[in-house]
Amino acid sequence: MENLEQLVAQATAAFAAATEPSRLEAVKAAYLGKDGALTALLKGLGKLPPEERRNAGAAINAAKAQIEAALAARREALRNAQLDAQLKATALDVTLPGRGQARGTLHPVMRTLERIEELFRSIGFEVSDGPEIETDWHNFTALNTPKNHPARSMHDTFYLLDEQGRVREDVLLRTHTSPVQIRTMLAHVEKYKYLDVMPEIRVICPGRVYRVDSDATHSPMFHQVEGLWVGENVSFADLKGVVADFLRRFFESDDLKVRFRPSFFPFTEPSAEIDVAFMGGALEGRWLEIAGCGMVHPNVLRAGNIDPEKYTGFAFGMGPDRLTMLRYGINDLRLFFDGDLRFLSQFQ
Ligand code: PHE
Repeated sequence: MENLEQLVAQATAAFAAATEPSRLEAVKAAYLGKDGALTALLKGLGKLPPEERRNAGAAINAAKAQIEAALAARREALRNAQLDAQLKATALDVTLPGRGQARGTLHPVMRTLERIEELFRSIGFEVSDGPEIETDWHNFTALNTPKNHPARSMHDTFYLLDEQGRVREDVLLRTHTSPVQIRTMLAHVEKYKYLDVMPEIRVICPGRVYRVDSDATHSPMFHQVEGLWVGENVSFADLKGVVADFLRRFFESDDLKVRFRPSFFPFTEPSAEIDVAFMGGALEGRWLEIAGCGMVHPNVLRAGNIDPEKYTGFAFGMGPDRLTMLRYGINDLRLFFDGDLRFLSQFQ
């Protein structure tokens, strides 16, 4: 019976030495297989005298059970090891710090536009807009600038092409936001046509405008904010008050000089350029032009279906890109439109 114990120990050691399931199954055959050691022992039982057969058979079967148990345990151990390896290979390290998500920010010019809207809303202006592809009529003719008017050469206009590639004369990229004056007046008059007294128009229109122009202070696309106030007895004094107050609030400074310098626009009369000068800082004492303005020309009111005998109004067109440059001390307009994150992310 001693060699049975040895056989069990040998089998257990052989199983332990098998580190692959396939190897283990091969080793198994040497003990439990058809030509295995135990099978041979069981076959030999027949040659024993009958009185020994019973005990020997029981001992061999006990050894077989031990070897089978050792085999099962080893199979299980190998399967667990394999599973562990698999889990390790596909594991997520949940303790790794995340990469984070970069937060977008508003473009500095958009910030300025929002600030302008907020300030004008606070004094009762509405905010509206109009199309960037505009008709020649809205952009020029209705603004008292008929075809061949010399003032048209003040704007280098992008015209649209027709399907044959010829320049269309009737559609263009708006060169300023002033056509929104016309659209606003026409819509307003239509809306209130059943009232005896027209409510006042008080509106600003921020938006993109286009001119054939490009250098450090000009971009082919830039922004404007149109302002329009039409009512009974609206005067140039109102214009000065509204604009000067706006600029002091926009720059958060009372130490600001505002100057209205006589100028010309076909759609306003009288017309002026609005300049500001700061009392301190790098720009101290320099006059900077930031808007054009004036009293709405009677022809423009007429084009908007408004009676110039009854109503007057003022309009202005500001450059928010300029305002942003002044507020943040930026010296090249093109930086706004290059899309360089090193520049843009400074305005968090
Ligand atoms: N539209 C003018 C421009 O682009 C500015 C302006 C607007 C002037 C309204 C007067 C009144 O230069």
